[in-house]
Parts: sequence; structure tokens; C-alpha cells
Amino acid sequence: MIDPLTLPKAELHLHIEGTLEPELMFKLARRNGVRLPYPDAEAVRRAYRFSNLQSFLDVYYRACSVLIHERDFYELTAAYLARARDQGVRHVEIFFDPQTHAARGVQLETVVRGIGRALTEARQRGMTSYLIMCFLRDRPVDDAMATLEQALAHRDAIFGVGLDSAEVGHPPEKFRDVFDRAINAGFRAVAHAGEEGPPEYIWQALDVLGAERIDHGVRCLEDRSLVQRLGTDRIPLTVCPFSNVKLRVVGSLEEHPLAKMLDHGLCATVNSDDPAYFGGYVGDNLAGVAEALRLDDSALVHLARNSFEASFLDDAARARHIAELTAAG
Ligand code: ADE
Ligand code: ZN
Repeated sequence: MIDPLTLPKAELHLHIEGTLEPELMFKLARRNGVRLPYPDAEAVRRAYRFSNLQSFLDVYYRACSVLIHERDFYELTAAYLARARDQGVRHVEIFFDPQTHAARGVQLETVVRGIGRALTEARQRGMTSYLIMCFLRDRPVDDAMATLEQALAHRDAIFGVGLDSAEVGHPPEKFRDVFDRAINAGFRAVAHAGEEGPPEYIWQALDVLGAERIDHGVRCLEDRSLVQRLGTDRIPLTVCPFSNVKLRVVGSLEEHPLAKMLDHGLCATVNSDDPAYFGGYVGDNLAGVAEALRLDDSALVHLARNSFEASFLDDAARARHIAELTAAG
């Protein structure tokens, strides 16, 4: 029997700001003199009842106000990496939202340095990583372009660009010029699409933005020709089961479309999105869907294999991870 919690895996859909556990939130709030609208960590957890993506984002952006100094970003990232390591993560591709921090006067350099220091330490212990900078799709395009211009000075630390935040009403095509410029500058591209938004947003992410991977994408199943395209081109989908249930994208884990996506031959992967808010890290997500959808050992190994296949690792590194998996399964 395979243990999904410790099975070797890559995590490809993880917002570092979404790993802020209530205890660290309070520690940073005290240290930085920030007032929180909760008396203690337990009250914070009780407040994590969401009706949709926006109701979560309101809480999430507010909590980000405790992240100010390089040390804060370092501690946040180091804490995530320790947990991820305990859950079998060998490689992680981490999102961060620079515009959220810039709005509070926190420089891109502060964020990148803090996260980067923790990633460097983890690399020395064998965990590899790439950093992906997300643009907030519900803010003006000019803001995203200005953020990209700043990121050019950190080309060595930032591997790719993504698109996140409130989806409905903010189609990917708005960001065509930003992604064109980013890809021309050598960044790899991914985008959130088909979480709450329609299949049309997934088409746009692929054909207008040039996204190589779709974050979430669970609504692809509503469009048969899209499913065919995703399957034929082996476009990975970074699925986040606990997130989908918490944000009411799906009714329950038992009703989650992950098994259907695999049945269609899609390269679906399991990820945690914002684990401090949604009730578990990547291994917990894998264990949760394994039980709810009755996935057998071969399906679990298949999902773990997909996670390495879907990563931006080079062929040699990917093959090493897949060989380790084969030995485990
Ligand atoms: N930012 C953090 N989590 C997100 C999600 N699930 N969807 C869109 N933007 C996000
Ligand atoms: Zn996400």
C-alpha cells in the first residue's frame, strides 16, 4: 500500500502567501505592529468559511499585511518548505503576488530576497524549486506591465509568470501584451483559468497568452473540444481539490472531477493552492482525493508521475524523479 502523504511528488500550484498559518500570522503581526481583526489563531481558523473565490481573497489579501520585511518572507517560505518536505515534495514551483505587497510599499526586491534565501537553503538539502510571479488579473493591465518591468532586474531569481486573483469578468486576453513581453524576455508562462471562469478563459490562456500549463482548469470538462486539445497537446492542469471544495467550485471531494480528468487522459496533477486556508498541504490533498474517489496505488503513482512530467524541470531531473517513483511504487 502506497502512502499518498509521503509519496515523492512535485507541487506546482502553491501561493506562498497562502501558506501563512494563523500562528505565524500572529507572530509577524506582533513583531511588525500590525493589528489583526481576530483575537487569536483559533478565531482566525473559525473565520475560514468561504462562499466563493472572492470571499477567500478578501481574507487572504488582508492577512498579507503582516508580511513586510525580508525576514518575514524568509520565515514564511522556510515554514512551507519544511512541511512540504515532510509530505514527500521533491520539487516545488512557487507562486507569489508582488502587486499585493507593492500596494503596501513592500519592494519586489524584499519579497524575492526573502523567499529566495529559504529556497537556496532548501536546495542545499536536496529540494529544488522555481519561483513564478503572478499578475493580479483584477488590477489594471498597466500595473502588471510595470511589475514585469521591475521583474526584469530579477530575471535570475524569477523563472516564470502566472495570472491569478478574481477570475470572473477578468478574461486572460486582457493580459496579452504583458505575457507577450514576459515570454519574449525568457519567462515561462502559466495561468489560472477555468476555476470559476468558463472554458473560454482556458482557450484564451493557451492561445492568447501562450500558457504552458493551466492552473485549476476543472471547468474544461464542459467543453469536449477543449478536453481533446488539452489531451492531445499534453497541457498539464494543476488541480487543487481542497481549494475547490472550500471555495465551492465543487460540492464535495466525492464529487471532484479529478478522476474524470484522468479518465479523459489529461495530465492532471494534485496541489494545495493555499494550504493554510484550505485544510491541508499537498500530501493531505492527495490522501483526501485517494479516499474520496477510491484511487488505487497505480492512480496515485500516475498522479505523482504527472507532477514531475508537468514541472519545468529539465529532462534529466525529471527522469531521476520518475525513477525514484518507480522504485517506490
Ligand atoms: N490567489 C490565491 N489563491 C488563488 C486561487 N485559488 N485562485 C485565484 N487566485 C488566487
Ligand atoms: Zn491558485
